[in-house]
Formats: sequence, structure tokens, C-alpha cells
Amino acid sequence: MSSSQSPKSPKGPASHGGKAASPEPNPAPPAIVALSAEEIREAGILPGAHWTEQPIEQVDDDGASTIGSIASTTASLTSSIFEYRTVHGRTYHGEIGNAESWEPNDQRHVDSMDILHHTFMLSLGDKLFLSPLEKNNIHKVLDVGTGTGLWAIDFADDFPNAEVIGTDVSPIQPSWVPPNVKFELDDCNHEWTWNEDSFDFIHLRLLNGVVSDWFSLFRNAFRCARPGGYVESLTTSAYVRSDDGSVKKGSALEQWHGIFWEGGKKLGRTFKVLEDDLQKMAMEEAGFVDITVKDLKIPLGAWPEDKKLAEIGLWWKMAVESDIEGYLNYLCNALLGWTSEETLAYCAHFKKELADPNIHGYFVMRVVYGRKP
Ligand SMILES: C[S@@+](CC[C@H](N)C(=O)[O-])C[C@H]1O[C@@H](n2cnc3c(N)ncnc32)[C@H](O)[C@@H]1O
Repeated sequence: MSSSQSPKSPKGPASHGGKAASPEPNPAPPAIVALSAEEIREAGILPGAHWTEQPIEQVDDDGASTIGSIASTTASLTSSIFEYRTVHGRTYHGEIGNAESWEPNDQRHVDSMDILHHTFMLSLGDKLFLSPLEKNNIHKVLDVGTGTGLWAIDFADDFPNAEVIGTDVSPIQPSWVPPNVKFELDDCNHEWTWNEDSFDFIHLRLLNGVVSDWFSLFRNAFRCARPGGYVESLTTSAYVRSDDGSVKKGSALEQWHGIFWEGGKKLGRTFKVLEDDLQKMAMEEAGFVDITVKDLKIPLGAWPEDKKLAEIGLWWKMAVESDIEGYLNYLCNALLGWTSEETLAYCAHFKKELADPNIHGYFVMRVVYGRKP
């Protein structure tokens, strides 16, 4: 099913299981201070000017001009939920939770998230999850940070007897959905107000740069999962590797992780989820058992000889390219102090390297699931 619509109708804050509404009044977000030149140097991040100085031949620049050109479409909306922040022409949610979101919520990014959903499915072998769920035992499901809601919608299609709830801080979900899906505005970093022992499955996909405390997140998930229920978390590493040395130090691909890791530190919401093994550690600490960790090597680009892997790599290339500027705009602009020209130049180099069949970059994707005893 295709999703994606721009925000249309504000949904009220979540009221879970008859309890009080979840989001508390929004605390003033902490002022984000850009990284100092020394911090940037120490992290091995090349200056933005480096990318404008490098010559670049023939770049597929189809979407690159978007930064600075997308006008906010929210001006006429009265609800404060739609009073997004605008950074270099991209919009970011601004009402629920911590307003300093690094990820845009405009149409271009929404489209990119939809491509990503298909890409994840393909990467998991056409599966929505890896947990050993018994179909007849799944009645209530939570998808935290649901994004455009495609995972929740597809899950609801496959499990028509289950009630599926997708939560997010941004109201970017479609309104035409299966009758067993609903979306609610909710900040996963607040104490969860869902009833105890209520969910058969809690799904958390790609919450890098979103979660302020992974241990608290899984404690909440443990409390709200029913005994015998599963929690599953999928994350990706920002580290682009190659086994043959074709991802060179100082290349755009090699620089990617530094931008995200340092950005995450500044935001107080880490992107080093995989490297710090946060999913497993936090699940264990919360009390989940039978924890299973699966790492998958994900090619970036269509370079693998294996056809299936090449297809997966092509989709990842497309998913990143579809809004690479959106992924980087806030981090590079607000945290690294780059100009939009510098960010665009970096993006152009990144895209060129992605398209180069001699560069065999890949990253690791990790799925961790566990059961509440
Ligand atoms: C990278 S997207 C992943 C979306 C979806 N899980 C998927 O895999 O397609 C991260 C999502 O988390 C949402 N988000 C950011 N901060 C959040 C918070 N504090 N609580 C809940 N969702 C949040 C963003 O709005 C965004 O939709």
C-alpha cells in the first residue's frame, strides 16, 4: 500500500488504555550548540569547504537543489502541531517532544521513508519482522516511531485480527488505513502510559538519533509487553565499510558515520546504537529473555555479483539518494556549521561514490528481538 500524505488533520495527543494523555507540556528544547572546530577535527570530519573544493564530474543532481527551495507548506495551518521548524527550506516537527529533530517531516522525506520501508522488507527477505510470532497469539501491537506508518499498515494487513497502533511525534501518517490500524502522537522518550502487560509485539525500527535513553525505552517496553510477548528492534550502522579497501579514508562514504556520530552526541540521541550494542544490553537489563541478535551485511549500490544482493544494494542506493540532503541538512547545517552549498557538494560526492561500481561499500544492519518471560 502506498502511504504518504502531508499533514492534514491534527490528531490529539495519545490517551492510552484509558489513562491520562501521554505527552506532557513540551519542555523548551535545549539550545543546540554547533560543534567547535576542534571537536570536528578530533572526530576526523573534513570541513564542509573540502567538498566544494573537490572537482566532481557528472553528478546525478536531480534532487540536490531541494535544500533552500522547498517552501514550508504549513503556513496556513492553524494548529500548533503543524508549526514546524524550518532549516534551509526543510521542515522539522516542532510541537511534541524535543523539537530538535534531525530528520525532516516534509513530503520529500516522507517519500524517502516509504522507499526505505520497501528496502527494509527486501533486506529481511520480504519479512516485516524476525521474531517467532504465533499468528493466533497476536492481538495488540505497537510500532514506536512509526514514521509514515507503512510497517504498521502492512502488519495490520497480515494480522487482520490484531489491533496495531503506530506512534510518532510527527503526524505524517496516511488517513486511509486498514480498520485495525490507528496512529497516535506520542513521544517515546517520555514515560509510556500504555497499560502494563498489554502488547503482544512491540516493534522499533530505525530509531537512531531519536531515543534519548535506550535503557529507559526498553524498560518501558518490558512493562507494557505482555508475558510471552516479543519486542524487536532494527537498527543500521552509519559506518560504511568495504572488504577490499575500496571505501577510501577521506571519501564521502567514509565520512558519513562521523557526521552522524558527532551529530548524535550533540543532540543527546545517539546514532551509535549498533556499535555500542545498545539494543541487546538494554533488552537484557529490562528483563527480556531469549534475546536473538542477527547482523546482516547490506551492500550500498548494485555492485554485488549476487543478483539478490545487488537488488538490495540498488534499493538502498535509491533510498539514500531519494533524500540524502534531508538526512544531512540539519546535522551538517546546525551542528557542523556547513553552508548549504557545502552540504550539497558533499551529497554530490556521496552520490557519485554510490554510483561507482568499483567502490564496494556496505554497512551492517542489526535486528535484535527478545521475549518477556
Ligand atoms: C528514521 S524514522 C523511522 C520510521 C519508521 N520506524 C520506519 O522504520 O520506517 C524515525 C521516526 O521517529 C520519529 N520520532 C522522532 N522523535 C521521536 C520521539 N521522541 N518519539 C516518537 N517518534 C519519534 C520521527 O518523526 C520519524 O518518523
